[in-house]
Amino acid sequence: MPKVVVAFHSGYGHTKLIAEHVVKGAASVPGVAASLVNIAELPGPNADRSYPVQWNELHAADAIIFGCPTYMGDVSWQMKKFMEDASGIWFTQAWKDKLAAGFANSGGLSGDKLHTLHTLSVFAAQQSMVWVTTGVMPSIYTGDGKNLNRLSSFSGLMTQSGQGAPEASTDPADRLTAEAFGKRVAEAAVRWTKGR
Ligand SMILES: Cc1cc2nc3c(=O)[nH]c(=O)nc-3n(C[C@H](O)[C@H](O)[C@H](O)COP(=O)(O)O)c2cc1C
Repeated sequence: MPKVVVAFHSGYGHTKLIAEHVVKGAASVPGVAASLVNIAELPGPNADRSYPVQWNELHAADAIIFGCPTYMGDVSWQMKKFMEDASGIWFTQAWKDKLAAGFANSGGLSGDKLHTLHTLSVFAAQQSMVWVTTGVMPSIYTGDGKNLNRLSSFSGLMTQSGQGAPEASTDPADRLTAEAFGKRVAEAAVRWTKGR
């Protein structure tokens, strides 16, 4: 059974809500097991460079979707710490050929989220993972009535939130786009693991 893990950080709950919708979309694909890992709760590597058991879910994943808020135009420091903690995995290339994808939530419509996605995709490239894009034409072209991919992102999922409570200050269209994104990665994981 293909395993999709959404590895996220969220300072104030908005990105967490989006992560939950990404997981919902992934889990909607028959035969796929999808789960959430809050990377801020992962202990760092042991002194001998082995990884605590909390990392096992990531090791076992066929696809990992990384997501975090954009803070000061880039990934949150918790995500950066996670990436540096994962440098021992880079040494062995243990995540090579897993699928990867990324999402960024921020306060601005742009807010430099693309930089965050690029940071995540470079991390995935360093791990020799295979990057999956959004694959949804922006609603400004499709007039789909649902406003899917209203922020017109191809490199990864972009969502925007205000300063209120997550449910009230995230856009329903972004939450739907998050589900479509999770579904796309999960479908890719089904195809990817078939050849094994
Ligand atoms: C330290 C800090 C830096 C931020 N920098 C940006 C930024 O560069 N661009 C932007 O659009 N929003 C920025 N914001 C707003 C956050 O992106 C937004 O509140 C966040 O995505 C909410 O997600 P969260 O609840 O998961 O933390 C910043 C917020 C904080 C706290």
